[in-house]
Amino acid sequence: MTSATVHRHRTAMVRHTLSQPMSLAVRHGLIRPGVTVFDYGCGQGDDLRALAVAGVEATGWDPHFAPDISLQDAEIVNLGFVLNVIEDPAERVVALKAAWELARRVLLVSVLIVGAVPVDGLRRFGDGYLTARGTFQKYFQQSEFKVVLTQTAGVEPIALAPGIFALFRSPEDEQDFLLERRRGRRASTSKYRTDRRAKVLSAKPHLADRIANAIDAIAKFALQRGRLPHPDEVPSDVHDLLAAERVSFARAQDVSQGTRIDERLFERAAADRREDLLVHQALNLLNRSRSAYRPSPSMVRDIRHHFGSQQQFAEQTLEYLHALADPQRTAAAMRRAADNGLGAIDEDGRLVINSRRVVDLEGVLRCYVGCAVHLSGDIDHEHIVRLDPLRRRTTLFSLTAKRQPFPETSTSIMIDLKRQDVIIRDDPRVLVRKADVFGMASLSRQRSAEADRRKSGGYDEDRVLVRM
Ligand SMILES: C[S@@+](CC[C@H](N)C(=O)[O-])C[C@H]1O[C@@H](n2cnc3c(N)ncnc32)[C@H](O)[C@@H]1O
Repeated sequence: MTSATVHRHRTAMVRHTLSQPMSLAVRHGLIRPGVTVFDYGCGQGDDLRALAVAGVEATGWDPHFAPDISLQDAEIVNLGFVLNVIEDPAERVVALKAAWELARRVLLVSVLIVGAVPVDGLRRFGDGYLTARGTFQKYFQQSEFKVVLTQTAGVEPIALAPGIFALFRSPEDEQDFLLERRRGRRASTSKYRTDRRAKVLSAKPHLADRIANAIDAIAKFALQRGRLPHPDEVPSDVHDLLAAERVSFARAQDVSQGTRIDERLFERAAADRREDLLVHQALNLLNRSRSAYRPSPSMVRDIRHHFGSQQQFAEQTLEYLHALADPQRTAAAMRRAADNGLGAIDEDGRLVINSRRVVDLEGVLRCYVGCAVHLSGDIDHEHIVRLDPLRRRTTLFSLTAKRQPFPETSTSIMIDLKRQDVIIRDDPRVLVRKADVFGMASLSRQRSAEADRRKSGGYDEDRVLVRM
């Protein structure tokens, strides 16, 4: 077979839900109504239909399915699973450059990566494989793909998931995204907001009612960021409402503080934000993020408010990095996590934890997970995380049949921080200490089932994930 007989368009599938890169962009808030999207190599256009239903202005081009649509720039451009179907490496670079030129804010690029699909029986062709349907597939290494992106676009790509990256046009925008994403992993704190509303005591019911939307917006910001907002940092309709009611912004802040902001939660939000910023900056430095020194104005305000000055922020970040490099401190943090019921320490001293509980770890350990996420991107399903700071590895295990007392794993994604690479493999294991990993009560049925299994299976107490 020659290049001329590779049928690229046959790779385009019918989708009933958003593709993974589009759905990640929606979940991270990059795509939302009001943002323009262009899908470069849109296949049959199902992503575009789904976006349109949600009110997002989206259009796309495809050499086979939509050749007559003109290329146009947009805030977000998606180059979704296109490069891996192109058999000619030089042509991949042309497509990547063309898509990057159209992206005013972010280019999303995705490919299939090694291990995603079995290749047994496929014929090698160029640097990839030919399938029985006459299509070509190149499976990239995550690190190799990152190099292609960096060299072609000239900016450091941000991993969103294995094989899925975002390239930001502006460093400030990238910084805001990174910080919000790292914060986003604390999504469970949102329930505090709900509690707070239930407990609201209104000192000035009349005014508070009239400007309710404005004081809610101020309180929402305050409880996310641990400080009151600057007037620039609230939506314009807040100012419209205050102008209509003839209330100053400062007065609205006072009312919001008096009626909507629980002091304890405000302090907690400030402490969380301080730690988020430290973890964020430590990760920026560890990952040599090009945008580390270009915080957005809003982030600069956070830094001033929570640390006093950039200088003090830099000093505290260094402190953090020292803690990271100190195996005794990380080991102690892992032990504390296990003692607090957040996970289990295994036979090799590694911490095994459910991904949902990572947000509750101390900052030093969140940095480890953050480095892994930087290399691999987010893994969107729930999984088990094994932290191994001594060997500088983090491994993510996906569980099958999570409800079973002894769930099994199918694959693992090992992120090797030393080699800066991601390895996906079949990795069948049994989780024999689910109760510790999921934080179940000491008298639970699960714990006695585990004790029985240890006796009959002869596992020593320290095993957490046993190979099948
Ligand atoms: C696997 S499909 C992906 C389609 C869509 N982005 C999605 O995720 O559903 C690959 C698409 O790339 C298109 N394609 C092939 N060569 C291309 C090129 N040089 N530039 C843009 N798209 C191309 C094919 O026609 C095909 O529709």
